[in-house]
Order: sequence, then C-alpha cells, then structure tokens
Amino acid sequence: MSKNVVIIGTQWGDEGKGKVVDLITDKASSVVRFQGGHNAGHTLVIAGKKTVLHLIPSGILRSNVECLIAHGVVLSMSALIEELSELEASGVDAAKRLKISPACPLIMPYHIALDNAREAKRGKSAIGTTGKGIGPAYEDKVARRGLRVGDLLDLKSFAEKLGEVMEYHNFSLSNYYGAEALDYNSVLAQASEQAKTIVPMISDVTEQIHQHIASKQNILFEGAQGSLLDIDQGTYPFVTSSNTTSGGAVTGSGVGVTDIDCVIGIVKAYTTRVGGGPFPTELPYDVASDKGDAIGKVLGTIGCEFGATTGRQRRCGWLDMVGLKRSFNLNAVTGICLTKLDVLDSLESIKICIAYELNGKQITTPPYDVRDYAAANPVYIEMPGWKKSTIGIQSFDHLPQQAQDYIRKIEELSNLPIDILSTGPDRDETLILNHPFDE
Ligand code: GDP
Ligand code: IMO
Ligand code: MG
Repeated sequence: MSKNVVIIGTQWGDEGKGKVVDLITDKASSVVRFQGGHNAGHTLVIAGKKTVLHLIPSGILRSNVECLIAHGVVLSMSALIEELSELEASGVDAAKRLKISPACPLIMPYHIALDNAREAKRGKSAIGTTGKGIGPAYEDKVARRGLRVGDLLDLKSFAEKLGEVMEYHNFSLSNYYGAEALDYNSVLAQASEQAKTIVPMISDVTEQIHQHIASKQNILFEGAQGSLLDIDQGTYPFVTSSNTTSGGAVTGSGVGVTDIDCVIGIVKAYTTRVGGGPFPTELPYDVASDKGDAIGKVLGTIGCEFGATTGRQRRCGWLDMVGLKRSFNLNAVTGICLTKLDVLDSLESIKICIAYELNGKQITTPPYDVRDYAAANPVYIEMPGWKKSTIGIQSFDHLPQQAQDYIRKIEELSNLPIDILSTGPDRDETLILNHPFDE
C-alpha cells in the first residue's frame, strides 16, 4: 500500500524539517512543497556536506525523486534560478526533476520593496520578516490582482497585467511609504529573461499528484515554517502569510483531506524563534554582546541557532508543551520526530513548560490575544540532564537513562509516539523507530 505523508514544523520553524524530509524520502517517489516561499531555509547534511534549500523540495538530493512546487507556494523566479544554479554547480540535475504549478503566485521585485518598506514603517513593532516579499505576494493573490507562473506563457498579456499592478504598487511605495518606485521596463525585461528558465518546468502539478496517488506511489508533503507562524492560528500578527499547518498541504496542493495518511510533527527538543513575537519560554541571550541567559547561550551556541535564510540569531528557550499541544491538534499529528536532542547533552537539568500563568490563573491552551501571549509566564517541570553525548546514537537502549526519560515524558505529555529521533545534523545521525512510509 502507498502512503501520503505530511511533514510539518510544530513550533516557530527551523525544527529540522529539511533533514527529516531528505531522510525519509528514501521511501518516497515525490516531494511536494505546498506553501510559503524562499523565506524557508531547510538544511540537509549528507556525509558532512551541507546544502541549504529555500524553495526547492528537500527530496532533490535523491536522484530518483521528483520534486513538485504546488500552487500554494509563492515563487520568486530570481530565488529559484539562483538555487537551481547552485545545485547544478554541485552536480545535482535539479531542473530535470522539478515541476512547477502554473497557479503559483509570483513574487516580484515590488513585493520585496513593499515588505521592506512596511517593516521600516512599523519600526519597533516590526514583525521581523525575512524580507523576501512573502506577505505582499500572498496579499496580491488574495486581492486577485497577482501575476502567476502561468502568466509567463503569454508575455504580451503578462506585460499588460504587470503594468496595471505596478502602477498600483508604485503609487503606494512612493506616496505612502516614501520609498523609491520601481522601473516597469527593467522589471519586465528581467521577468521575460527569467521566464525562459521557468517555463519549461511548468506542469499541472495537481494532476501529477493525483496520477501518483492512482499508481500507488508514496508522496511526501514538505511543510515550511512552523505551526505557530500560521496566518490564522499562529501568534498573529507575528506570523507568516500562509497556512503552515497540515491543512495547507490539502489546499496548497489540490489533494483531498482523506488523501493524507499521516502527519509527522517535527519537534525540536527545545524551542527557537526568529523575528518578533511572544515566546513565553525564551531564555534571552545576545550573541553580539555575549550577555544574557547562560542556558540560552548553550542552546544557541551548541545548536548553531542562526537563520538558514537571513543569518539572524535565533531566540532560544525551553520546550513548550502548551504551544505544542495546540500544534498537535491543529495538524492532527500522528507521530513526532524529535530533533536536536544532542544540543541538550551538556545540561545539568532540563525544563519543560506544561502551563502558562496569566493574570494569576494557570492556563493550558495558548491565549489568542498576542498581548496575553506575551504576558504569559511559563510553569515548568524539571528533569535531570544526562551529561553524556547522544550524537549519532543508533539504538534507543543506548541512550542515557535520563535522555530516555526526557523522551518518554514528551510522549506522555503529548499522548503521541516519537517515531524518529535526531541526534545530529547529518542524515545518518538519526534513529528511525517507526518509518512513516512503512505499514
Ligand atoms: P528547517 O527549517 O526545519 O528545515 O530547519 P533548519 O535547517 O532551518 O534548522 C535546523 C538546523 O539544525 C540545521 O542547521 C540542521 O542542520 C540542524 N539539525 C537538524 N537536526 C539536528 C540534530 O538532531 N542535531 C543537531 N545538532 N543539529 C540538527
Ligand atoms: P523554515 O521553513 C523560521 C518567520 C520570520 C518572521 C515571520 C514572518 O526554515 O522553518 P515572512 O518573511 O514569512 O513574512 O516572516 O516568520 N519565518 C520563519 N522563521 N523558519 C522559517 O522557515 C521562517 N519563515 C518565516 O522570521 O518572524
Ligand atoms: Mg529553517
């Protein structure tokens, strides 16, 4: 029997999705990206060699795997071309195995200008976006004025539509934001040139997925960002502009709800967040001044917590079961993949947040109002650390007892099994307890 598996991040992104997608694609024939864009940074390490993917699905390093970019993804031609050429320079025949839906909204240079202008205007309350034009591109889609990949097939009508949309955005850039307007002719010339690379990859991705389902092939749906960054269910307005939860795999690719067989939630053994927004279990530490929380420093330094897309320092803190439990429900998670356990190896003791204290009361579900979220104080349980290396351990029984206890505690609090355990960045540094594509 074949299976369709969704992989999603359960926290604020960077849980290790790329590594896990690459790993379990050994048993899949195609990988589908269904939301987000090149705001994602998915890191794959194979025998010490690191590859960071932003837009191209994380199955690309397996030569028998087809990679599909479905219509839920906002696509920057510049970013895709750059990524393709990097992969091809290292000997990966990426363009041959990549197909793109004509219904993907295009991220154009004015979206990036708008993203940056808005962030600058927000000042102190900036979201801390990746500056890749994600929000403005999704806005154009919903406003029904956006250009899509399929528009590249008719450059004459593309040029007309571009004229209208640029008139609109240039007006707001120069008159509202006091930013520089973009030159229509150069935007058109660049897009027309880039279209030559993109057009040959255009394909009815939804139909391809349905054909794969009909011929009983395993498909992996690769989420980007994390569930707490979901546009509807995340810590609004400190969120991204897509549905990062598992429902996004359905709407963003054109399969039906019952086509999905299981949902693997990637959980980092602690929590990180890049950009602004509430983070109750944060242990603030600033790398530039080397000031702040000592444990926050350990997590950030040992975990190499710097953004794979922007290079920004990631904020770090303890595992937060309040956010995670909401996440498991939002996604109908069927199994957990716990990553970066090894980052905790040196710690004396480890905390898990099991509730928030807000206005003198304990709550176990995340507040909807972002100000309440920011005011929530974590309530912790504490467990002893193991103070031994777990890097690359290949059997559960070989894990130190305290590490086994930490894992079992997470399973107990989640009421879900841990199917995969990752104890190092490399593809091999993983313990698969239950392969998602197995029966
Ligand atoms: P993604 O966005 O969810 O794909 O995650 P990122 O690639 O942005 O961030 C995860 C980081 O942790 C990358 O640098 C990975 O190479 C690294 N990583 C993944 N799993 C592990 C692990 O189990 N242990 C350690 N130490 N690093 C890991
Ligand atoms: P992966 O797939 C972590 C965050 C940004 C910002 C907010 C909005 O690697 O896990 P956007 O540019 O999307 O409008 O920014 O979302 N963000 C991520 N944080 N990992 C990501 O992707 C992210 N993609 C966006 O930092 O707070
Ligand atoms: Mg990332």
